[in-house]
Amino acid sequence: MKPISIDLDLPNNAYSIHIDQSWEGLDKAIKPFVGHKAMVVTDENVYDLFARDIESILNSMGSQVTTAVVKPGEERKSLKTAENLYTQALENGLDRSSVIIALGGGVVGDLAGFIAATYMRGINYVQIPTTLLAQVDSSVGGKVAVNHPLAKNIIGSFYQPKSVYINIDTLKTLQDRQFSTGMAELIKYGFIWDNEFLGWLQHNIDGIMKRQEEDLAYAIECSCKTKAHIVSQDEREKGLRTILNFGHTIGHGLESLTNYGLYTHGEAVALGMVYESSIAYRMGLVDGSILDLLIRVLEKANLPTEIHGVDTEALIKAMTHDKKNKGGSIVFVLPVGTGKVDVFNNIDSMLIHEAFKVSPKELIS
Ligand SMILES: NC(=O)c1ccc[n+]([C@@H]2O[C@H](COP(=O)([O-])OP(=O)(O)OC[C@H]3O[C@@H](n4cnc5c(N)ncnc54)[C@H](O)[C@@H]3O)[C@@H](O)[C@H]2O)c1
Ligand SMILES: [Zn+2]
Repeated sequence: MKPISIDLDLPNNAYSIHIDQSWEGLDKAIKPFVGHKAMVVTDENVYDLFARDIESILNSMGSQVTTAVVKPGEERKSLKTAENLYTQALENGLDRSSVIIALGGGVVGDLAGFIAATYMRGINYVQIPTTLLAQVDSSVGGKVAVNHPLAKNIIGSFYQPKSVYINIDTLKTLQDRQFSTGMAELIKYGFIWDNEFLGWLQHNIDGIMKRQEEDLAYAIECSCKTKAHIVSQDEREKGLRTILNFGHTIGHGLESLTNYGLYTHGEAVALGMVYESSIAYRMGLVDGSILDLLIRVLEKANLPTEIHGVDTEALIKAMTHDKKNKGGSIVFVLPVGTGKVDVFNNIDSMLIHEAFKVSPKELIS
């Protein structure tokens, strides 16, 4: 594949997203932002796979590198871990001219971005995402956060990286379930924005699932372009950026109700997209063909499309607590056409209840 570069235009924070299949272009992509000292933040799994490559590239650029390795898992996205990372940064003399390198999935990306946003009131950072979810979603757009025991992602900021470098070759080692979780966000872009990509996706999803390089690179490129475009219009989620939450109202509710243990984020979002689309179908916003297409594409990505054994009342209660809600009503992003969604905040609660009573697949059969 030919290296790809996508610009994310923001008034004071423009940066590029680079997509390649090796580390060859990394040096050039991050050179202007790498200071005398760098701290790589990664997790144990990713450390074993890629940290040495990154350390030696940084060393060859004349940067003195320290690497902070956290245990894998969402529990490490905490203030406690953040404090340990500040300590390591201080002990190694990181200053305002230093850079933080987030190397890993969304957990490491959000955590390292949070450290970069707050250490000495903000220092440069670079995202090197290594999961599909991080490559198509979390590394782009500057949302950084850690969790509070009472709420996920509740302590955070908008803080853009200086550069994003995606090496699609890293996806070779990713477990199938993690790959599928990223597919949910990738598929989402087709349904919220990019009709042309959605058409392409229908015919090429098998290639992506086989992790064929050209298909994967194109799908990641389309995803990053859409996210970059949306973020550049609305960096702080005051309007348009809300549409990225398609599938997330029900998805977040499901994750929280099941204590983040039953579904991966992408699995919950897949279910969310299906049930939210069934609400749209019941409201007459779309015909059955969109729901049918969504279910078929998600199934090909090995994602779930039916919720079983969930207490609907408890789920609706969990959805009411989402931090994205305004003035007490639940905010939904619903399809209103192919590749098109809209934001709704006054959905009849009966409709929401009804949506969980019948499987969406049966609804349209
Ligand atoms: N900032 C945002 O805009 C945004 C958007 C979506 C999600 N998120 C956050 O992202 C997080 C989830 O990210 P995730 O799904 O990447 O999970 P993750 O970071 O936990 O990574 C999943 C697992 O894959 C392993 N891994 C990473 N790269 C690998 C590779 N190349 N080969 C083999 N194993 C590898 C990790 O060690 C981990 O065990 C959540 O905390 C979520 O809140 C943030
Ligand atoms: Zn998501």
